[in-house]
This record gives sequence, C-alpha cells and structure tokens, in this order.
Amino acid sequence: MVRPPVPVPDLTVSEFMSRFSNRELFKVIKYGGTRKGKSRFMPPAGRWLSDEDIQDVITYVRSLERSSSDGKSGKK
Ligand code: HEM
Repeated sequence: MVRPPVPVPDLTVSEFMSRFSNRELFKVIKYGGTRKGKSRFMPPAGRWLSDEDIQDVITYVRSLERSSSDGKSGKK
C-alpha cells in the first residue's frame, strides 16, 4: 500500500485523541485534512459518508483508544 508523504496519526493513542472533541473529529473526517490547515492526504470522507455514518465512525474510533503505556487495545 502507498503511504502518504506525511505521518499518519495513530488513532488508538488516547493522549493524542483526547486533544480532539467529537466535533473536531467530525470536521476532519467530513472535510479532510485541508479543512484544519493540514495536508490534503487525509481525504474528505463527506464525499462518500453521510453525517450519520461519520458519527458511527467517531464512535468506532473512540472505541480504539488506549493509553500509550498499557500496550493493549480496546477501552480501558
Ligand atoms: C477513521 C477515520 C479517520 C479519522 C477519525 C481520522 C482522524 C484524523 C485526525 C484526528 C488527524 C489529525 C489532524 C490534526 O492533527 O489536526 C488526521 C490526520 C491525517 N489523516 Fe486521518 N482520519 C481518518 C481517516 C483517514 C484516512 C482514510 C486517511 C488516508 C487515506 C487519513 C490520512 C490522514 C493523514 C495523511 C493525516 C495527516 C495530515 C497532516 O498532518 O497533514 N485519515 N486524521
């Protein structure tokens, strides 16, 4: 798989994810990286997902968070 030429954040690291409100996650997912002044390499998922789908993605992504020190996936 071709990787984008910028680092892709690890969405399982709760220290990183806690910086974002659900509203901010919604925006970056729907409108893509450029919306937040980031690169275009995160595509705007609003092209193919409804707002309701995006809410489901947020719920799913939140379920992946773990502390970077505990080494386990899933909710604490
Ligand atoms: C599950 C859906 C996704 C979520 C919740 C998500 C979330 C995020 C977040 C929170 C950031 C950090 C933005 C910031 O630092 O302000 C980010 C950046 C990024 N995402 Fe995503 N993302 C998703 C899907 C994707 C997909 C499908 C791709 C690529 C095909 C992608 C590529 C990137 C890249 C390249 C960046 C870094 C942009 C930069 O630093 O310029 N993301 N994403």
